[in-house]
Amino acid sequence: MRTTVGWQADGAGIALRRVSFERRELRADDVAVRVDYCGVCHSDLHAIHARTGTANAPLVPGHEFTGVVTDIGREVTRFAVGDRVAVGNIVDSCGVCVMCRQGQENFCYEFPTLTYGGTDRHDGTITLGGYSREYIVRDRFAYPLPAGLDPAAAAPLLCAGITVWEPLRALGVEPGTRVAVAGLGGLGHLAVKFAVALGADTTVISRSADKADDARRLGAHDLIISTDQQQMTTARDRFDVVIDTIAVPHDITPYLRLVALDGTLSHVGHLGPVTVETLDLLIGRKKLSSAGSGGRPETAAMLEFCAQHDVSADIELVPSARVHGALARLERNDVRSRFVLDMSDLS
Ligand SMILES: NC(=O)c1ccc[n+]([C@@H]2O[C@H](COP(=O)([O-])OP(=O)(O)OC[C@H]3O[C@@H](n4cnc5c(N)ncnc54)[C@H](OP(=O)(O)O)[C@@H]3O)[C@@H](O)[C@H]2O)c1
Ligand SMILES: [Zn+2]
Ligand SMILES: [Zn+2]
Repeated sequence: MRTTVGWQADGAGIALRRVSFERRELRADDVAVRVDYCGVCHSDLHAIHARTGTANAPLVPGHEFTGVVTDIGREVTRFAVGDRVAVGNIVDSCGVCVMCRQGQENFCYEFPTLTYGGTDRHDGTITLGGYSREYIVRDRFAYPLPAGLDPAAAAPLLCAGITVWEPLRALGVEPGTRVAVAGLGGLGHLAVKFAVALGADTTVISRSADKADDARRLGAHDLIISTDQQQMTTARDRFDVVIDTIAVPHDITPYLRLVALDGTLSHVGHLGPVTVETLDLLIGRKKLSSAGSGGRPETAAMLEFCAQHDVSADIELVPSARVHGALARLERNDVRSRFVLDMSDLS
């Protein structure tokens, strides 16, 4: 076994503890990655709170990171020691089901192995995430980090980015498509950057005007304040695609009403039951959809697109020892973009 160091949730909320723990020895198709930068996703907060006060298996969050290959298994040909790589929230899948064969490993029939809190397909252990100095990953689920992408600002592309990239692409967003993005956080700000770079007519929907400057800076063409009934009514049927990234349970009806004839509401933020009045779909033949993470081909395509179009996350980089403060600020929505942890203080 190989020993590494990371930040673990022990059932005491967001007060993570620095711990040493074991990583597996390399299998033939594994690469060892020195984790340099790991994004702080709102899903990490959900996961930490889900186990607060319980005695579940250890939880080391973190599922969007970049780093450098430090070792390779004997059958690995795609990577060499020293390569820059990126890893997202899926680290394995069956590889043979209908979804995997279509390059949608994120929808694997056997459920993809998640980067943390997942069950390893070979030894049954619970995976521990990227808030750590080293990660061992099957080579298929590591992605070369294109030259030109800053490794810290690229880390959030691997969860926040791909989660909004796949639906934008699958829904055919192109020049002239009218796109609205609800919730201007980690996922939302990348959805805006992608939509703008794809040539869409892009609008931000936020709860207040506080983020008006951010929306403009990101290239959005318009801002709708979701708490202003008049603005929401005026925007009825206006968007071909609405991407909802809001991190809390909420009524999706007001967002469905913004969708144009034959358009789609893609609900990718808070996951769980929603109530839909079918008439809100019927009138306008509207579609309700969801998505999560991405398959290998689209993840690689997103990284290439980002390198070509100079797209990456707007980040606040903090030493990993300040993870508690980052989670606390994320919790009270006191973050304009994405926190990224600099893991070098774990060496
Ligand atoms: N589908 C997937 O696979 C997937 C992947 C990653 C994350 N997620 C989920 O996506 C959600 C967003 O993640 P994130 O990392 O982008 O979170 P985030 O950075 O905290 O952003 C969430 C945004 O939601 C809005 N919001 C927060 N609290 C709200 C409230 N009480 N009422 C209305 N709006 C509120 C805020 O936007 P405004 O201030 O602009 O209103 C906030 O910026 C989380 O639930 C996360 O678990 C899903
Ligand atoms: Zn995430
Ligand atoms: Zn599969």
